[in-house]
Amino acid sequence: MAFPPGFLDDIRARISLVGLVGRRVQLKQKGRGDWWGISPFTNEKTPSFHVVEDKGFFHCFSTGEHGDHFSWLMKTEGLEFPEAVERLAGEAGLEMPRRTPEDRKQAERRKSLHDVMTFAVAWYERQLRKPAGRDAHDYLKGRGLSEATIARFSLGFAPDDREGLAGAAKAEGIEMEALIEVGLYRKAESGRPPYPLFRERVMFPIADTRGRWIAFGGRFMGDAKARGIGKYINSPDTPLFDKSRTLYHLGEARDAARRDGARLLVAEGYMDVIALAQAGFQGAVAPLGTAITEEQIALLWRVADEPVLCLDGDAAGGRAALRAAERAMPQLKPGKSLGFAFLPQGEDPDSLIANSGAPAMAGVVEAARPLFQVVWEAERDRAPFDTPERRADLENRLKQLAGQIEDETVKKQYFRAINDKLWELARRRNRPPRKAGGLSGRGPGGGRAPWRDVSRAPHAAEPLGRALSGQAGGLSRRQQQLVLLILANHPGLIEEFDEPLAAYDLDADLDKVRRALQKLAASGEPLDSRTVRDHFSQRGDRTALRLVDDANLYQLARQARPDALMDEARAALDHMLLIRTQGMVRAEMGRAGGRARGDGGDEAAAEARRLAMWRDVDAGEAALGRGVIDEDD
Ligand code: UTP
Ligand code: MN
Repeated sequence: MAFPPGFLDDIRARISLVGLVGRRVQLKQKGRGDWWGISPFTNEKTPSFHVVEDKGFFHCFSTGEHGDHFSWLMKTEGLEFPEAVERLAGEAGLEMPRRTPEDRKQAERRKSLHDVMTFAVAWYERQLRKPAGRDAHDYLKGRGLSEATIARFSLGFAPDDREGLAGAAKAEGIEMEALIEVGLYRKAESGRPPYPLFRERVMFPIADTRGRWIAFGGRFMGDAKARGIGKYINSPDTPLFDKSRTLYHLGEARDAARRDGARLLVAEGYMDVIALAQAGFQGAVAPLGTAITEEQIALLWRVADEPVLCLDGDAAGGRAALRAAERAMPQLKPGKSLGFAFLPQGEDPDSLIANSGAPAMAGVVEAARPLFQVVWEAERDRAPFDTPERRADLENRLKQLAGQIEDETVKKQYFRAINDKLWELARRRNRPPRKAGGLSGRGPGGGRAPWRDVSRAPHAAEPLGRALSGQAGGLSRRQQQLVLLILANHPGLIEEFDEPLAAYDLDADLDKVRRALQKLAASGEPLDSRTVRDHFSQRGDRTALRLVDDANLYQLARQARPDALMDEARAALDHMLLIRTQGMVRAEMGRAGGRARGDGGDEAAAEARRLAMWRDVDAGEAALGRGVIDEDD
């Protein structure tokens, strides 16, 4: 085909097939992304014609007619394929690539270039099995890859050898010119022979979504920095390869998603994708050394409604998340979004799986947060919001972001969600002094009552045990469990502590419990410790059940017991989530302030502001007019 790589996919990604078909056929949605109507290809009364938006095809069960955007126009409007492409390219706002006899020659050429790539992939694979490839092979095995995985990803080795590949290619009738065109060799200056781009590197071949080889990534195994070279290098853009429209492993991930419902995960690197696949996550893909592009997001949405970006749990990961969120925002469509999964600090999927196993990775993915939540929290935490003017500023920032959303329905929902959040925030900040709480629920009647077992224990009466006043920083697992246990037994406090709790990273399994609690609280059902427990047992949520039945925890803090006073429970949460934080904030502010005076610049200052906000939350109501809005939950 004479179209540049990705061009047709781009058109399909930009134009809704349901919208296109819907101009002729009245369609009704049946399932998710599945639309039905009266077939235009036959006379019928009951709908046998359906369109599957995600997969980008229509199918008529009466006549067997089947196709995509282009064949739709060819069949219903009698257009030739190039005309259909031209028409839709226009609608999608894409410029048509020129089609001349020259182009046609180019298409032939491209086909032969794919053959060159196929040859190169096989040649590099063979080198991996030769003595010169021994170290590379050991290296891959040392990184935990099985022989099957190495073969499945067609991994290879480029030896430190200028002529090897060219010589072998020549014997197959492949000229140097072609090797240069696919980016495997480079022209040298002034009469010297061309030289290979990849030397002494483990080779990761990259395929397009049709499984044809189009490029390589190569990893240097030694100390690349010391040699002044890149750890990874990638093929340059070529007639076959457009980096910004390619995702590593997308074709396979798409097939796994369609075949087995695999979750579409976006990791950062080749090794992550491979480790994920080996650990059973077949739907993993990665961009090629760059931040994710708009085109790549569009490609992802053709495969899944909510691909999950797996990011570092550190500040850089947070920034990457925001960049991706901002890039995705204008393109959001009903049902189409991104999830963000943050890995433990310093880990990537490859290392997490190696160090903690696949279940840890699954937990991280499970805890992915929706795009809206990530954007909201980032803006909220950027500056204090303790006055109406500051909240107005926050509102403006958020609405400016949401204003970029092109789809009117999604935009409307964003504005609505922003208003809800802001309202909640203002209400919370203006909460009047707390009333004395009554008794909360009575605990699971008849069943075990784990706190009773420990009421005689010597430490039971200790107001706030050592476990509650942990080191500054995050919460220990014990502390996380305690916080959640208190909330489970005093569900009236869940909403109140939602925001402070959100400032902490919880272990993946406990974060699930946190979200289950949030969901319950949001449901509006009347809750006490017993209904919460019933809910957990109905759902078979074993982590949560183990938590509410953990006698050790009740021993650590009697405030966790369902029969503790609400105010005691609240004080314990305050202590763990807020007062402790205040100490931490002071320490951090010292540090951030120091950085701001140094060369940390804006970022350090912003961090200091964010931390100051937390101090505000603590000092809280004192600084604010109280009771401006009535508490009425
Ligand atoms: P990372 O540096 O995070 O490495 O690069 P990694 O994926 O964890 O690789 P290992 O585990 O050290 O082998 C992430 C991705 O960024 C691109 C590559 O695509 C890599 O997979 N990259 C990285 C480059 O293109 N060039 C580089 O010098 C480094
Ligand atoms: Mn890595």
